[in-house]
Amino acid sequence: MNSPCCKFFSSSIGKKYLMALSGLVLAGFVFVHMLGNLQVFLGQEALNAYAYKLQSIPAVLWGFRLFLLLATLTHVLTAISLVRENRAARPEPNGDEKVVQATIASRTMGLTGSLLFAFIVFHVLHYTVRITHPEYQDMHYVLEKNGKEVHDVFTMIVGGFTKKWISATYIVCMAMLCLHLTHGVSSLFQTVGIRNTAWKARLDGVAIAYGWIIFIGFISVPLAVLMGAFKLPV
Ligand code: HEM
Repeated sequence: MNSPCCKFFSSSIGKKYLMALSGLVLAGFVFVHMLGNLQVFLGQEALNAYAYKLQSIPAVLWGFRLFLLLATLTHVLTAISLVRENRAARPEPNGDEKVVQATIASRTMGLTGSLLFAFIVFHVLHYTVRITHPEYQDMHYVLEKNGKEVHDVFTMIVGGFTKKWISATYIVCMAMLCLHLTHGVSSLFQTVGIRNTAWKARLDGVAIAYGWIIFIGFISVPLAVLMGAFKLPV
């Protein structure tokens, strides 16, 4: 625990780097996941073939899942530790203090982060473990290209989002994700030292654009389902 590396990552600046690095992994994952989900617009065969490909090498799948879990836990636990440190450094809040230049996104990072964590737990139980909807387990599809019987992810997603409360929950959570990303990405630029006076406005614009791209990309799926864009085979 006394190595220079451990000392660095237990310092405040080291923890900020851990937040930035784990945040980068998670922000990258949501982008790739969003691109994957958009394949629903290519149809049942394309989405199911893609989902099957992702799961076809168990060692890669589980290695990736472990890596993602590690990034998520690092991000959450380091955030809790930084919040505690900040509180300890300023134990008595000043009642007259005004919130200067703090955006809604920056003031709600704890709230949006906690809600997103709860969303991820629900989401994994919903679409990966399928414990909330056991009927999703029995959805199968035979791929036209090789005759393999695979899980019918297309019917699961389209069927899932036809329930209005599920679509509404996802859309609200994606709004949280958008808010969290707009501040998170600009904090990341700050931590790595590129958000200087000359670049601040442009990089803040990049962070806001990133949050909105992710938001629009993800919500397009439940919105399209609610608007009746997909027909499920009978
Ligand atoms: C409209 C929005 C979304 C849809 C339709 C969607 C769809 C899916 C589906 C179908 C799976 C299971 C894949 C399978 O087992 O075959 C999955 C897994 C997952 N999703 Fe999403 N997702 C959405 C949003 C998100 C967001 C915003 C996050 C993160 C903040 C996220 C994180 C995950 C994670 C961590 C997994 C587990 C990955 C694994 O099993 O290895 N998803 N998603």
